[in-house]
Amino acid sequence: MPIITCIEDLHRIYKRRVPKMFYDYAQSGSWTEQTFRENCKDFEQIRLRQRVAINMEGRSTASQMVGQDVAMPVALAPVGMLGMQHADGEIKAATAARDFGVPFTLSTMSICSIEDVAAATNAPFWFQLYVMRDQDYTDRLIARAKDAGCNAMVLTLDLQILGQRHNDLKNGLSAPPKLTLPVIADLATKWRWGLGMLGTKRRQFGNIVGHAKDVDDVQSLMAWTHKQFDPRLDWDKVKEYRRRWDGKLILKGILDPEDAVKALDVGADAIIVSNHGGRQIDGALSSIRMLAPILDAVGDRIEVHLDSGIRSGQDVLKALAMGATGTMVGRAMVFGLGAMGQDGVTRALEVIHKELDTNMALCGRKSVQDLDRDILLVPKGFSGDWA
Ligand SMILES: Cc1cc2nc3c(=O)[nH]c(=O)nc-3n(C[C@H](O)[C@H](O)[C@H](O)COP(=O)(O)O)c2cc1C
Repeated sequence: MPIITCIEDLHRIYKRRVPKMFYDYAQSGSWTEQTFRENCKDFEQIRLRQRVAINMEGRSTASQMVGQDVAMPVALAPVGMLGMQHADGEIKAATAARDFGVPFTLSTMSICSIEDVAAATNAPFWFQLYVMRDQDYTDRLIARAKDAGCNAMVLTLDLQILGQRHNDLKNGLSAPPKLTLPVIADLATKWRWGLGMLGTKRRQFGNIVGHAKDVDDVQSLMAWTHKQFDPRLDWDKVKEYRRRWDGKLILKGILDPEDAVKALDVGADAIIVSNHGGRQIDGALSSIRMLAPILDAVGDRIEVHLDSGIRSGQDVLKALAMGATGTMVGRAMVFGLGAMGQDGVTRALEVIHKELDTNMALCGRKSVQDLDRDILLVPKGFSGDWA
């Protein structure tokens, strides 16, 4: 196994091993990619305060997210089509998360179905819901998640319509990929990926094919998906989902203090401060910049998690010290999965854990509960005086 010391090592191997179409799908942002770039860059603006001669023995990163014990407050974010990054990708990532002791979130747009993941992992996981126009289908999706024992529902609010990623259009993104000449030429160099795919029967959207009306092949699936995201989703409907889901409800895609207060009002258990990893709106501020104003608005009346731009344990440390109680990682997991399957996801979690634990200690803190703004140096006006 290659020596992996950081997430970027996994990224490099991932780029070599996974077809360009799926690499581009993950490693792109919408339109000019300004928000995508700034999500990572803005973490670099924040610095840590080195403290010395403080007893560092007996440290712990253990915590809770929506009442669930976690080895560190880092959940795997919902990511569509993990099963195209690596054969049976959702099962591999969920198994790695279960063994590490962090939550895994299954996307509506997964390749392995809810039932596949439940059967393979035998452990509760979180289910991410996209509200679809087909109400009957959405209702059944929720019932399936409940039957599978999912212990939290992550309702994504920032994708009622799709942002545009130029590469996906140019590459003709689809699952499974259409075998055009450029795709065949690319696949010829990705034999490891191809062998894996030949060894699994899971190559389509497992939560949709066979479950949505009139969807049984790639053509009907693509047509259905594009018109199904429901642009009418509003706070009244969110309230309805709150009433209908008796487990923990996490609202994902909150980037504004006013929306954070609305999330509080509907009775959500947590929010995820997120701009979808820079894949939806282009031109918004990064999640880490928006965290402080959102915390000012809701205080500790709701759990506040953050994603978008996290590539290291230092980034997790900064988000927690700024006041988030949990974080999610999307691409850091994808890099691990595409590079080395389940072992790669485990390695990504190990890397982030070590970075979090060591840098926390070097800031003079022994547990994630002890973290606060005092360990940070934040440039004046970081969250801005934007009018
Ligand atoms: C390839 C890819 C697919 C994604 N698919 C979904 C999805 O199906 N549902 C969802 O709520 N978020 C989705 N997201 C957003 C992630 O849940 C998360 O918000 C984002 O990846 C966080 O940013 P990061 O990648 O910088 O960690 C996706 C992100 C990526 C990179």
